[in-house]
Amino acid sequence: MKRIGVLTSGGDAPGMNACLRAVVLTAHANELEVIGFQRGFNGVIDQQYQTLSPYHVSGIIQDGGTLLKSARCPAMLTEDGLKQAASNLHDLELDALLVIGGDGSFRGTLELAPYYQGKLLGIPGTIDNDVDGSDFSIGFATALDTALDAIDKIRDTADAFERIFLVEVMGRHTGYLAVAAGIAAGAEQIICPELAAELDLDKIAEHVEQARKHRGNCSYIIVIAETMYPGGAGTLAVDLESRGIECRASILGHIQRGGRPVGADRILATKLGAYAVEQLVQGAHLMMAGEINGKAGLYPLALTGDKKKQVDSYLLRWQQQVAQY
Ligand code: F6P
Repeated sequence: MKRIGVLTSGGDAPGMNACLRAVVLTAHANELEVIGFQRGFNGVIDQQYQTLSPYHVSGIIQDGGTLLKSARCPAMLTEDGLKQAASNLHDLELDALLVIGGDGSFRGTLELAPYYQGKLLGIPGTIDNDVDGSDFSIGFATALDTALDAIDKIRDTADAFERIFLVEVMGRHTGYLAVAAGIAAGAEQIICPELAAELDLDKIAEHVEQARKHRGNCSYIIVIAETMYPGGAGTLAVDLESRGIECRASILGHIQRGGRPVGADRILATKLGAYAVEQLVQGAHLMMAGEINGKAGLYPLALTGDKKKQVDSYLLRWQQQVAQY
């Protein structure tokens, strides 16, 4: 193995830069050349890339975003796009490609496999933490802290005005981030797909009324996962108001994707980036370098999107039975 490629794909996540640094430094130590593709798979198809040396990744461990930029790549859903990507990888004589991203990026990687003769390896990087086979994905810990910082601030004003707030957090189709943020912020209610596929307005209203009966007028925070309500938290606030529940909606949105990675993400990113390169050298193929029970390990790439990653059912039960009021 002489030359490997790396790219960051899909929603960027804090810690992607730390991961790129670990990949490049470990590759350098193993006398491998690294080509970094710009804007995810788009850079492979459009031949936009640069050589990455330790010099390029020095001083980036603390930076949010990604040095290589990120994007989704619809062309990877077409046979022409896949063939073009494989042919460009072959022209560059790349022995392997490392993909840092989430389940969508891994699906693209798997689709590429029949056309590309080199090795393919994934590293989980997404704030959603919805990749099966890794305890955590790079970026989740930072996004959680960012959400908490915001919700704590919302709590201050909610307390002052004895108000009800809906706080919408990201997570795509999963509620991992919503559950973690809701538990850690001491939210009175968490609404996420893992708890109920359909949202019941009567139940939400009843919950709020019960809490107010127990505690009198007080702040009340509902953390809601995005995609749980058509039109989002803003529309839900309007619909709750029509049932006599006056509330304010706050959508945290993309701020959850930005910012300096917290220590846990820098460490995870370093561990997985280094491990991925070492495993490539050992011959790993079509695997994800993940963290399994706190240790770096390999997990079949094909299984990463198979099951729905489980949220902590113990904490959820506690939230519903004990902490709801
Ligand atoms: O996958 C990361 C993520 O931030 C999701 O939480 C969110 O649903 C999605 O990306 C947003 O995508 P975009 O930045 O394309 O709007």
